[in-house]
Amino acid sequence: MSQRLTINQNNKPIYDIVYEADFHNLSSELEKFEIANKKLCIITDSRVNLLYSEEVCKELKDKCKEVVVFSFPNGEQSKNLDTVKNIYEFLIQNKFERKDMLLALGGGVVGDITGFVAATYLRGIDFVQIPTTLLAQVDSSVGGKTGVDFDQYKNMVGAFYMPKLVYMNLSVLKSLDDRDYYSGMAEVMKYGLIKNASFYEWIIENMYEIHERDLDVLEDMVVKSCTYKKLVVEKDPTEKGERAILNFGHTIGHAIEKYMNFELSHGECVALGSVAAAYMSWKRELLSMEEYYEIRDMFVPFNLPISIENIDPEKILELTASDKKMEGNQIKFILLKKVGKAMIDNTVTKEEILAGINEIYFSEEDWDE
Ligand code: GLY
Repeated sequence: MSQRLTINQNNKPIYDIVYEADFHNLSSELEKFEIANKKLCIITDSRVNLLYSEEVCKELKDKCKEVVVFSFPNGEQSKNLDTVKNIYEFLIQNKFERKDMLLALGGGVVGDITGFVAATYLRGIDFVQIPTTLLAQVDSSVGGKTGVDFDQYKNMVGAFYMPKLVYMNLSVLKSLDDRDYYSGMAEVMKYGLIKNASFYEWIIENMYEIHERDLDVLEDMVVKSCTYKKLVVEKDPTEKGERAILNFGHTIGHAIEKYMNFELSHGECVALGSVAAAYMSWKRELLSMEEYYEIRDMFVPFNLPISIENIDPEKILELTASDKKMEGNQIKFILLKKVGKAMIDNTVTKEEILAGINEIYFSEEDWDE
């Protein structure tokens, strides 16, 4: 273990991602930022707080001026400006200054909120990502996207703001419940689909070890995923172009997430959105029928859905239009040219999107057949 990746911009190192099997090296990693003179605020949620806050505090308390913890209720429903306000108040009460530091200990929601608070509190305070879910480790903790949901709009308010460090304790993946774990697998499979066909094959070949959560295979899988993300975000950190391919499966996925009031996990929705996008790619003759069905069916062994009941496809279509991946009146839609190669398309019509949604919609009529 103890691998390291560096994220660069304009050929300059911006931050490291370190891969460890526990939290023991966190304090030595943070000492590089002279934490002896800093107050640290661990921002976490109610679930992760119970699991890891004490352990992380113990690692840090003798190494810094003071360490405090702010915890908010677990779940996407907390990802809003009210939580941000509560954190600002907590930081003000605890007299946090610009030289101090925030630590995001948790999954994607914790990382996105903490990053946004860090970007805006006193016009910017340093923060470190300590992602504790597979989804956060392979995607949201890397690349500097921060923010919150606003009304019905997902991730509508935010900033690009880079962490000082991403510290991954891969052992925490072993304690994730199955649903959270496989939710992250949708993002892992995304990298294979959009960026590298051999990685996609590798995922399938290592299915057994992935189910078993073998630590060496997990390390390989997370490091490889972050390497693909690195390739994309280094070239296009603020999503002016190519970074949009990382949104494969997310346009329809986000709409389903919202429609279902977050009862389905992010990864489950991304899997559904990916099936719909792959179907649309087949219908445009970018993929063959065989490729489409292979892509669709490969989500099943990773406990991810490929169809959904009880939705109103027209409503989902409406919600895709409120997603922020819009350019003028056109949606920036991500299609697949083949396994391992994504493309950004601005010409996708509402009819094509609706056909994609209908493909994943399992209606009562399907039961009768
Ligand atoms: N999760 C998509 C991105 O970071 O761009």
